Amino acid sequence: MAQFTLNINNSTHQIDVAPETPLLWVLRDHMDLVGTKFGCGIGQCGACTVHLNGTAIRSCLLPISSIGDKSITTIEGLSENGDHPVQKAWIEHDVAQCGYCQSGQIMNAVSLLERNADPSDEDIAQAMNGNICRCGTYTRIKAAIKTAAKEV
Ligand code: FES
Ligand code: FES
Repeated sequence: MAQFTLNINNSTHQIDVAPETPLLWVLRDHMDLVGTKFGCGIGQCGACTVHLNGTAIRSCLLPISSIGDKSITTIEGLSENGDHPVQKAWIEHDVAQCGYCQSGQIMNAVSLLERNADPSDEDIAQAMNGNICRCGTYTRIKAAIKTAAKEV
């Protein structure tokens, strides 16, 4: 065990865990931030996507010891009231089906729009490629990203 100081959703937290513990487990089991989901655990599905210094990363693969003072943002920290433009576009397009993959989809979409405010269909397909949706909501995800792109 070791003690780590983490900046999560703009507040500082101290946590005692084994250094190799993946960020995903710290978020879910220690911080009760359960909006971030466990899917595959091997970096292949995107359900665990959060932001590290604003960039989308797979939290299931990131050992807590490698984070240092970088800022972590989860779906809970994206907006005060679920009203980030991407979240609003998701609601407008009624994107979610079972919802399991959707926090990862949203976090990845936000990261895309921060890099590219006017993504083409190809840009969206490429950026969202690693986020799997078993319910097949891909068409609505693309439409929502296009709507959100007009707002961010
Ligand atoms: Fe992390 Fe699937 S749970 S990529
Ligand atoms: Fe069900 Fe994506 S909405 S897995």
